[in-house]
Amino acid sequence: MGKYILSLDQGTTSSRAIIFDHDGSIKAVAQKEFKQIFPQPGWVEHDAMEIWTSQASVAAEVILKARITGQDIAAIGITNQRETTIVWDKKTGKPIHNAIVWQDRRTASYCDELIKQGKEQLIKDKTGLRLDAYFSGTKIKWLLDNIPDARKKAENGELAFGTVDSWLAWNFSNGKLHITDVSNASRTLLFNIHNMQWDEELLSLFDIPASMLPEVKQSSEVYGYSEANLTPYRIPIAGIAGDQQAALFGQLCTQPGMIKNTYGTGCFMVLNTGDKPIPSKNNLLTTVAWQINGKTSYALEGSIFIGGAVVQWLRDGLGIIRHSADVEKLAATVPHSDGVYLVPAFAGLGAPYWNQHARGTMVGLTRGSSAAHIARAALDSIAFQTMDVLKAMEADAGMPISEIRVDGGATKNNLLMQFQADITHLRVVRPVITETTALGAAYLAGLAVGYWDSIETIAKQWQIDATFDAAMEPAESKRLCGEWKRAIRAAQAWTE
Ligand code: G3P
Repeated sequence: MGKYILSLDQGTTSSRAIIFDHDGSIKAVAQKEFKQIFPQPGWVEHDAMEIWTSQASVAAEVILKARITGQDIAAIGITNQRETTIVWDKKTGKPIHNAIVWQDRRTASYCDELIKQGKEQLIKDKTGLRLDAYFSGTKIKWLLDNIPDARKKAENGELAFGTVDSWLAWNFSNGKLHITDVSNASRTLLFNIHNMQWDEELLSLFDIPASMLPEVKQSSEVYGYSEANLTPYRIPIAGIAGDQQAALFGQLCTQPGMIKNTYGTGCFMVLNTGDKPIPSKNNLLTTVAWQINGKTSYALEGSIFIGGAVVQWLRDGLGIIRHSADVEKLAATVPHSDGVYLVPAFAGLGAPYWNQHARGTMVGLTRGSSAAHIARAALDSIAFQTMDVLKAMEADAGMPISEIRVDGGATKNNLLMQFQADITHLRVVRPVITETTALGAAYLAGLAVGYWDSIETIAKQWQIDATFDAAMEPAESKRLCGEWKRAIRAAQAWTE
């Protein structure tokens, strides 16, 4: 058996490939950013071919960087930005349109219409999700309704739908695999999380032909093999999970009650709830964590649409920093935001507010406000949004949460991690490996081929890098949280 696992992490802003060894340590990383396409306000697209080519090129590059060959790789794991919707022609393998990204709001009014028709409860009961433009179902319908001939072709069985995992599995296998895993399927609005099947009633509600859908697989099993487009050796593709579920697994939150927060493009807090789906009473999502050896694990999730992306906006939109990493230095030049609050509702607001029409809002500016205050407010907004989700999570769980495992790029930012601990008054724990998403997919693939023998074995690999505890007086954090709530109200009031 090969000595390494190749993990492919196809995220919202970059494609990454990481080689892990048996200790769960990183041997090599390759990464490529790709183009974000904004055709209209509220619309976000990716070129699906660029998703594939950037992912294939970093996969080839990381093998070279690690100075190994395909023969040294025991298995491939795939993890991906979820919900992003691609429809392609089964014969030519060509997408019929750009991928519609999870952040895209073009179907928001259609969702409002369905809510008015009283369809939301049915959808919640079956899928654990809300009726929001975030998920794939309404995006597929948009493509079928708006791309010439798409509906006719779909009805003739000529088109395939897939989230990004399906698209990559299809391409790496040269069109032999049209599959997805349960965690990705559970984000489409079309998958019944109780009987773990595509749901006919929902397919007819959204008018989507069943022939377009991928076959739903477990998160850890040998699905097929990579073809010569990667290396001359056929490597088992053996693990698939949506990136947030993969991060939960990579953080070894494999027991009910364990919780993680990933600071990526968005922020996603996920709580393992064990073998039963728990309906949320506090505006969270119920979702599938993974399925391994026939056993399904469920989770509660709080999805924040703009997390680390607010830093990219400071860089690309405002131009007040040159590199994302510069934000910590700029923000640290002031002791606090001086009453400036930034609500980055650039793609509406996700959990726990679910306001599809909210817009980004900055409040509290004075003549003395500087770029540093705005940078500070931007970082604070990540922590405040996380706090809102945490409160909802605690209310659903019926108990206070005392500790949270964190991962993702922005967790390198100590200022942010400390502020997170300060306003939530919980212990923030950062592990040594913060590439937890990729690690989770590697674990899922490695377990399927016997590279690791059990979850217990890999659980021993998780190690703490740093912990952050609250240093702020509770009265002060309460005051700041109260002001944040007012800023949130302002962001929602703008479009009322
Ligand atoms: O649900 C969207 C999520 O999967 C995107 O993750 O890491 O690209 O922010 P990320």
